[in-house]
Amino acid sequence: MKNTILVVDDDKTNLALAQKILMPRYRIAASNSGRGALKYLENHHPELILLDINMPDMDGYEVMKQIRAKEDTRTIPVIFLTADNLAETEVKCFQMGAMDFVTKPFVPDILLSRVDKTIELDQYRHNLENMVKEQAEKITEDARRISKIQDSVIVGMANLIESRDGSTGKHVKNTQMYVRMIADELRNRNLFEEELTEEYIEDLCKAAPLHDVGKIKIPDSILQKPGRLTPEEFDTMKQHTTHSSTIIQMIIGDVEDEHYVRIVEDIAMYHHERWDGTGYPTGLKEEEIPLAARIMSVADVFDALYEERCYKPPIRPIERIMQIMMEGKGTQFDPVIIDVFMEMLPMLKEVLGISS
Ligand SMILES: [Fe+2]
Repeated sequence: MKNTILVVDDDKTNLALAQKILMPRYRIAASNSGRGALKYLENHHPELILLDINMPDMDGYEVMKQIRAKEDTRTIPVIFLTADNLAETEVKCFQMGAMDFVTKPFVPDILLSRVDKTIELDQYRHNLENMVKEQAEKITEDARRISKIQDSVIVGMANLIESRDGSTGKHVKNTQMYVRMIADELRNRNLFEEELTEEYIEDLCKAAPLHDVGKIKIPDSILQKPGRLTPEEFDTMKQHTTHSSTIIQMIIGDVEDEHYVRIVEDIAMYHHERWDGTGYPTGLKEEEIPLAARIMSVADVFDALYEERCYKPPIRPIERIMQIMMEGKGTQFDPVIIDVFMEMLPMLKEVLGISS
């Protein structure tokens, strides 16, 4: 199909001449006024506009301004037509974004050659834009796919570690879900505003499955022991926090996303710290404990109480768990986080399928 050119000129002779020269190769739409041209452009998208500068009523510059101001028309290439060949006129045409400039009276071969070249150039630009867009989409899609694979490898590995103590793998999925719920709720309430950005929450949720990664170094005899651990065994168990940093370095040390690696380390190392400073491994207190670990701690303890473990039955009803956790406000848990968590009871019941 032929490309369409809109020719705008108040002089009927010029219009007819342009039509005659271009007709063999192009479809021509003609308008003898700026307003007529703009009206035509409301419903049509020609490949090129030949625009006369000196027209009564609305001159070519004004028409050009309006063409460039509209989303639909701003990329259509324009060649200005003028009877004068002053340098200032030419400069102004290019400043206004014209692709080219043709003086009247037309020399047929020059007009045709300029039109051909402009259309060809615009098509290259168009193709290039599409190629860049396609490549960008492909890169985004590839990155999304790789990130999905990484996520499932991490979750799979965390499940594997978790399965050693006989749990069903629900702990990894559940704690990740609770972490997201708590973080989203804190953000909705504009709490910890500076830290809790969307990016932080995404990294936090991706990091959550790795909170107990250090357990890989804890012997089965301790992990799988039914009933209470001896003080010595508990000391060994506590080391899953400090073991985590070497393991994290081995697993994701090469990941270039420092923010994410930092959150994984914070969570794995400090999720057993307590608000009053009596936790382990370092006895950090209050806001010295990284926010990610304070959130993880609430999610981890809730799941530990709600689910069955080899050393204990599940606690019911859920209200009893909330009561136990509330008793840890300001001693075990960050008081702000625990207060918000208490208000999340209806939400927790919903995700856990508990009818009120
Ligand atoms: Fe832990």
